[in-house]
Amino acid sequence: MAENKRKNYKSLTDDLTEILLTEQQIDERIGEMAEEISEYYEDKQPILVSILKGSFVFMADLVRKLNIDCTLDFMIVSSYGTKSKSTGAVKIIKDLDIDIENKHILLVEDILDSGLTLSYIKRILETKKPASLRICTLLDKPDRRTANITAEYVGFTIPDKFIVGYGLDYAERYRNLPMIGILNPEIYADE
Ligand code: IMP
Ligand code: MG
Repeated sequence: MAENKRKNYKSLTDDLTEILLTEQQIDERIGEMAEEISEYYEDKQPILVSILKGSFVFMADLVRKLNIDCTLDFMIVSSYGTKSKSTGAVKIIKDLDIDIENKHILLVEDILDSGLTLSYIKRILETKKPASLRICTLLDKPDRRTANITAEYVGFTIPDKFIVGYGLDYAERYRNLPMIGILNPEIYADE
């Protein structure tokens, strides 16, 4: 296969102060998470619910490593806009398509930060009476937690820094970076 000579992401990686997690580190960790998840959900036919947009890359990589029978659904919620700090307000822009009553639900998130988004979504979904509801997040920033919520599956616990890449954005950019990096604070200093 011809090598993609343009694949250096330079204009994007120039905005990072540090690469926190490489493509390979992420891939290996998701493999471990997938094994654990596959074991627990073996006979449960879970519905994996991805919270868009941030978790689309993680969801795509995770589900391809699960060797179990499962279905997928997506929700779009908005809590950030273009700001680098959470406002606390969560709005459902796209709700679930599938009825989740008596079903095993695994919420798939990119990052658990204040926890406000997930605790809100969790409360809404619990009113629909699923058989079980667990949370899987690639990243966890426990230092910033204000809501009382923990994830059953955590990929990496990270420091309180604003990060981008692997689905995570700043003002909708950087989602396509294959690695996760700390965004230079100068990029969002004017906010
Ligand atoms: P929470 O409600 O504060 O937990 O925020 C959750 C959402 O905020 C995540 O799903 C992300 O979309 C976004 N978010 C939180 N921290 C970061 C970050 O460091 N970079 C990019 N997005 C973030
Ligand atoms: Mg998100």
